[in-house]
Amino acid sequence: MNLLYIIVLVAALKYADAGCYNGSIAACNTCGGGCESVQCFCINGIDSCVPTTASDCLSQSNDCCPTGYYYDVNAICCTDKVICNPSCSDDEMCSAGECVCNTTMYKNKTINDLKPSVVCNSDIMLISISRCLLTYLKYDYNTIYAGTNTPGCTPQYNTIDNNIRVDHLQAELNSGWCGNKITNDSQKIYFTNTLHIGVLSSPIITVNPLNFTFTCSYNLTMQIALNVTLHPVVGSTTIPGTNGSGAFDLVMAAYTDNSYSTPFQESDVVTVGTDIYLGIFVTGADGNAFALRVEKCVASPTNTSVDAPVTIVTGGCAASDVSTDVIQNGQTLEAKVRFSLFKFEVADSVYIFCDVRMCDINNDCIKSCTSKSGKSSNTNQVSISLPYDYIGDTSSSVTNSALPWAVLCSTLLGFLTIKLY
Ligand SMILES: *[C@@H]1O[C@H](CO)[C@@H](O)[C@H](O)[C@H]1NC(C)=O
Ligand SMILES: *[C@@H]1O[C@H](CO)[C@@H](O)[C@H](O)[C@H]1NC(C)=O
Ligand SMILES: *[C@@H]1O[C@H](CO)[C@@H](O)[C@H](O)[C@H]1NC(C)=O
Ligand SMILES: *[C@@H]1O[C@H](CO)[C@@H](O)[C@H](O)[C@H]1NC(C)=O
Ligand SMILES: *[C@@H]1O[C@H](CO)[C@@H](O)[C@H](O)[C@H]1NC(C)=O
Ligand SMILES: *[C@@H]1O[C@H](CO)[C@@H](O)[C@H](O)[C@H]1NC(C)=O
Ligand SMILES: *[C@@H]1O[C@H](CO)[C@@H](O)[C@H](O)[C@H]1NC(C)=O
Ligand SMILES: *[C@@H]1O[C@H](CO)[C@@H](O)[C@H](O)[C@H]1NC(C)=O
Ligand SMILES: *[C@@H]1O[C@H](CO)[C@@H](O)[C@H](O)[C@H]1NC(C)=O
Repeated sequence: MNLLYIIVLVAALKYADAGCYNGSIAACNTCGGGCESVQCFCINGIDSCVPTTASDCLSQSNDCCPTGYYYDVNAICCTDKVICNPSCSDDEMCSAGECVCNTTMYKNKTINDLKPSVVCNSDIMLISISRCLLTYLKYDYNTIYAGTNTPGCTPQYNTIDNNIRVDHLQAELNSGWCGNKITNDSQKIYFTNTLHIGVLSSPIITVNPLNFTFTCSYNLTMQIALNVTLHPVVGSTTIPGTNGSGAFDLVMAAYTDNSYSTPFQESDVVTVGTDIYLGIFVTGADGNAFALRVEKCVASPTNTSVDAPVTIVTGGCAASDVSTDVIQNGQTLEAKVRFSLFKFEVADSVYIFCDVRMCDINNDCIKSCTSKSGKSSNTNQVSISLPYDYIGDTSSSVTNSALPWAVLCSTLLGFLTIKLY
């Protein structure tokens, strides 16, 4: 029994020692409250509260505490002793509750030691730069921006990497983002931008503002093409994994070229007979384990694949209704099909439907096109529509719902306007 009293007493003493907040704001545990990110409120959502248990302030940040108080991780309370929380990195020191750079460890460093890192991810370029080395070199990390000095072009967050404070800027992979410059050669597409960093204000300025140009290169794949153009004609759905578990995003788009770099867009005008390159791909799947296989593609004048009169792909191979090549199928996460654009006389649109599945790359992806195709199971359908404005000769007497374009083009020369749905 004595022991219990002693423990309680010690705890109480520690609490008092720590200078824990004892003012008029309620303790969170007395009013059913807690802290969402940085703000602590009672259960009524109106009154502020002060964290008193470890679960209240999960961020362990000073921001949980009233002005003039600091979060004490050990005492689990808001204390009047000045503490930096979260704690500072090795190249920082705590000053008035804020982490500021301690540039001692950068002594003798020069601008040549400043090497921002650039990581080219599939969806962003990540540029990271040491905050305190910049400060030591008399640059102001608060002035960093990419391309154009507009909102959204500045570092979004900072972390402590290898005990060093690092600022990170995520640059988006699209032409409109903060003055991105996009160039390409036949194989790759390049995204280039420049990081601008201003100097610290001081009576004597000894350095020039800094420009740091960075570039990421990407294979000219369908996915990149889709993301750098505006309003491509895209159909999408989700597709189950090989064993029926999990789901991947499946995208189908129509491209103008066999390098799959230019998707058809809302404003494009195309003549019958033009090659249409269908690109179908999944994102987020493991390309070493899985591939994407297109089993069947059909074209219909109506928004339904039932009784579609034209078959483009069957059993994963080119069908003979229209001029078709299956360029790539069951090899990677991208499948590629070319066909020549034809027109249905009875309709102003052609709807393309493809039955697609994921396959195990070591197992059931490639099938010979001469053998009869087996029953395909577990497929999902994705569709796009290519509507056209018919402005050609209307005197045709062809009443078949569809014919290969080679026949049609002599009597039904028309134009396609491909629109976004
Ligand atoms: C709060 O604690 C301080 C010492 O940390 C003490 O001087 C003060 O009287 C206390 N106030 C109340 C209302 O208990
Ligand atoms: C700054 O960092 C150096 C070592 O890098 C350390 O010796 C010094 O105590 C630090 N200064 C402060 C105020 O924390
Ligand atoms: C900086 O350079 C001076 C003289 O060159 C040298 O004495 C000192 O050790 C160097 N400091 C560091 C941290 O490298
Ligand atoms: C960029 O890509 C387009 C489309 O594939 C191609 O026509 C062009 O020649 C490429 N640019 C260069 C410099 O190769
Ligand atoms: C750095 O970029 C700024 C802003 O674009 C420009 O005005 C300046 O001339 C550039 N400086 C150098 C040395 O290229
Ligand atoms: C880019 O293309 C080259 C050659 O086609 C290939 O070897 C490389 O693996 C591709 N890289 C990526 C990230 O797909
Ligand atoms: C396109 O970019 C967005 C973010 O800008 C990303 O979420 C999406 O996954 C990208 N799509 C492809 C196909 O890479
Ligand atoms: C599905 O297959 C993957 C890869 O073979 C495997 O990792 C996963 O555990 C399987 N899931 C189920 C539910 O069988
Ligand atoms: C086709 O029909 C589906 C549902 O039946 C609808 O969600 C889709 O928008 C339609 N597409 C067009 C191009 O009308």
